[in-house]
Amino acid sequence: MKTLQHLFDNNRAWAESIKEKDPEFFSRLSKQQAPEYLWIGCSDSRVPANQITGLLPGEVFVHRNIANMVVHTDLNCLSVLQFAVEVLKVKHIIVCGHYGCGGVEAALDNHRHGLIDNWLRHVKDVIRFNAERFDGLDHQAQLDLLCELNVKEQVTNICNTSIVQNAWKQGKELSIHGWIYSIENGILKDLDACVTSKEV
Ligand code: CO
Repeated sequence: MKTLQHLFDNNRAWAESIKEKDPEFFSRLSKQQAPEYLWIGCSDSRVPANQITGLLPGEVFVHRNIANMVVHTDLNCLSVLQFAVEVLKVKHIIVCGHYGCGGVEAALDNHRHGLIDNWLRHVKDVIRFNAERFDGLDHQAQLDLLCELNVKEQVTNICNTSIVQNAWKQGKELSIHGWIYSIENGILKDLDACVTSKEV
């Protein structure tokens, strides 16, 4: 039986290094989680929420899927959103896309990939909503633009959920942010798509 021993070795070393710096870290964390942030990002292995933001275990609640989508019928994402807002009471929801996203590129290029095409249909809708903005751009510029517009669309989708609408109605402090990450240089950029209440 293959046991991926090196991953267990890595894990031991990692847990030891944390305990060395903070002996109470795990016992403290085991009692509760109180993250301030919900991260909705792409499943891409190169965009790990904790590492790129320098956050420790316990500091960010994470949901990831292909192309960082928020789909109104996706019970998985909505359940994460509800738990984060109503139980954990996060203050910030961050939708983080990334340049060079394979899911976004597949939607742009209209190549067929099977089941995933149904998921990416939502990214194709983002092209349709903004069709005129793609005119005259080369492929790279179109991809960069679509990666950004897709993030903004998901920010809008989050704002429109009953969960966020109810939170704002109850006067809860809750901001929705749209960010994009560059795999090429490891830098995050704020897309200035922050929404803080239903009036905005
Ligand atoms: Co991606």
